Amino acid sequence: MNERLTVAADTIRTLAVDLPVNATFHIWLKATGHNSLGSVSFANARGKFAEVSIANAEEYGLRIYQVFGGGHVELSFDTATTAVSVIYWFTAADVLETGITVVHTNRGNAPPELPGGYHFRPPFGWMNDPNGFGRFDGRPHLFYQHYSHGLRWNTMHWGHAVSSDYLRWRHLPIFLFPSEDLTARPDKRGGAFSGTTIPLVDGPGIRVFFTEQVADRQPEQQIQLTATSSDLITAGQAEVVLASRPTGAGLTPDFRDPYVFRGPDGLWKMLLGSQSDEGGVILLYETEDRTAATGWTYVGKLLVEERYRTTAIECPCLLPLDGPATSRSTRWVLVYGLMNSKDEETGRQNLTMADVGWFDGRSFSKEFGQELDFGTDNYAFQAFLDGDRAVGIGWLANWADAHPDIDFPTAMTLPRAMHLSDGMLLTPPIGAAESLRSRILDRTRLAAGETVTFDNGAVEILFDLDEAGATFELELDHPGAAIAVFRDQRGLGIRYERDDGPASPLYVARGANPRRVRVFLDYGSIEVFADRGRWVGTKRIDGFEPIRAARFSAGAQSVVQATVWALKL
Ligand code: FRU
Repeated sequence: MNERLTVAADTIRTLAVDLPVNATFHIWLKATGHNSLGSVSFANARGKFAEVSIANAEEYGLRIYQVFGGGHVELSFDTATTAVSVIYWFTAADVLETGITVVHTNRGNAPPELPGGYHFRPPFGWMNDPNGFGRFDGRPHLFYQHYSHGLRWNTMHWGHAVSSDYLRWRHLPIFLFPSEDLTARPDKRGGAFSGTTIPLVDGPGIRVFFTEQVADRQPEQQIQLTATSSDLITAGQAEVVLASRPTGAGLTPDFRDPYVFRGPDGLWKMLLGSQSDEGGVILLYETEDRTAATGWTYVGKLLVEERYRTTAIECPCLLPLDGPATSRSTRWVLVYGLMNSKDEETGRQNLTMADVGWFDGRSFSKEFGQELDFGTDNYAFQAFLDGDRAVGIGWLANWADAHPDIDFPTAMTLPRAMHLSDGMLLTPPIGAAESLRSRILDRTRLAAGETVTFDNGAVEILFDLDEAGATFELELDHPGAAIAVFRDQRGLGIRYERDDGPASPLYVARGANPRRVRVFLDYGSIEVFADRGRWVGTKRIDGFEPIRAARFSAGAQSVVQATVWALKL
């Protein structure tokens, strides 16, 4: 037995890992007290060969260590002096293929174990908005608002994952880090807020745009930064692209969430969310710099939104839908979140709007508008053009429920396609969602009014009604809440009443009269897509209890056919 193990007190934790050559470790640690260092040491058969340490006791700090040789390595730390939040390793040369390997999390940030769960979740810690969603170097990438060390919002980083089909993701190293000053204390002063990613014009590689928030910074709390990455896994030094808000526009300090895209005139454009005395506003910028790195100038307000008493617009995005960006007749969709908005009629908060119209590079003329999602748990939705197909994804949650004093694990929505049909915006799940269907559970009993029970909560239900707008109630059996999908005189809705919770808003698409309804269930969520995505409702379910069974408690006689699948990633 080697010496280290013989002296090991019961406060020593040891993690054994077998490594290929050239593994890079990311280790987040802090000191447990102010008088001694926190440290993690590395040992192999020949004994200890390295140590990383930190003096800060207030917040976990990142230490990076590269192990060149490979083989069996043991990492150890003394919990009397050292707290460790996360340890993962990866091999930089092929991490896009292999992902990171997480070897340590703790009770405060561990991900839930959800066998069969098929929604994207972070490998540890907190997640909110999707960021920088796009296809780069051939593969879909998803970045997201992230805090590694707990399940509550705090100093923002960008997490990162890569996929080949938008459904099966590999976790990658954390991509964007806030300034060192912000990471010294977990005091929620800001960080790397939401933004977008574009391919580098002189590629390969990417350029990201994001808001840097530093609470109480004068004169601006929120400024816009850019950084590039040639390997798609590490961001270079960030530079300021917009150091202040436009003057004279009557704006509050809200100035965030840059969305960068190519305009109809070939110039790079940027949208930002803000607020003025008129209501929520979307600001438009553009640059003649072909690299998009510099030269950003203010064009004007693209949209002013007074409805629902919003206090700021967040995460705007704009993309062409039914033709090339360069054609004058092409319709564009403008999606934006209404922070702090409230629909008094239903009690729903933080609504997301989708306006369809024409964008000439400088102004947007609206043809019609819809709510993006009547369930409102599809926030900070971000979409981009993948070739000629629009694909988007949202945060499967709502700030109205994310109380700062409760752990609040979240997922992303199913990725959605976006297209126009008969003067309406459709946002169905992407086609690849059908690849989740692993086994048919039922084709007869549900339609006959019987109860169909599930193996785990990962289920898709598809049913047709005998006429558009027939009334029904599909009851979903859950141990902690009354949950149902219904159509009644009000429209299509999701009932979600927690047994121990306050009264819920009315999640309803008024006047919706669907004929075909597709329902996706997973641990912690329900998503309803009616008539190919014409009406979509996404609702987060508290906790991880699966839905156990379904039954038409009303309207089974109107159900022409129903199919239930067990889903599997
Ligand atoms: C939206 C949002 C963004 C901001 C980010 C911070 O959910 O409030 O406006 O950039 O979250 O995490």
